[in-house]
Amino acid sequence: MAPDSPIPEVVHDRVVQAQGPRLVAVAELPADGVVEVRTEAHGVLAVGMAEGRPFAVSNLCRHQFAKLGQGQVRDGCLECPWHRARYDVTDGTMVRGPQGRLFGFKPYSRAIQGYTNAAFKLKTFPVAVVEGAIVLT
Ligand code: FES
Repeated sequence: MAPDSPIPEVVHDRVVQAQGPRLVAVAELPADGVVEVRTEAHGVLAVGMAEGRPFAVSNLCRHQFAKLGQGQVRDGCLECPWHRARYDVTDGTMVRGPQGRLFGFKPYSRAIQGYTNAAFKLKTFPVAVVEGAIVLT
């Protein structure tokens, strides 16, 4: 990144290292149900379990680029750790816009949700549970 870039460098400090297609053991997932995993093929992904099904999606929230792998799974959705936008991990759709006193302002929150879903959904990656681990398929 250029030294004068206005975009801060993304630093990943709690990342699980994938072993080829093997991303992480289900038993190693934190209570929040999601973790950041560094892969060779796709960079760092948010990987976890939602409603008993494994998922792997883009790690950066489409609102202000929080790390979704540091968020939590709630009501079957991946919830951003910063302003609690929620994503459907099956297709990358933002199902709830940002929340809170400022970013939860309904017209703003809905605009972020609409823009994200029109142009900027999370990328999803096919995974399965094999021998107790979430693996890319
Ligand atoms: S950065 Fe994710 S909702 Fe704001």
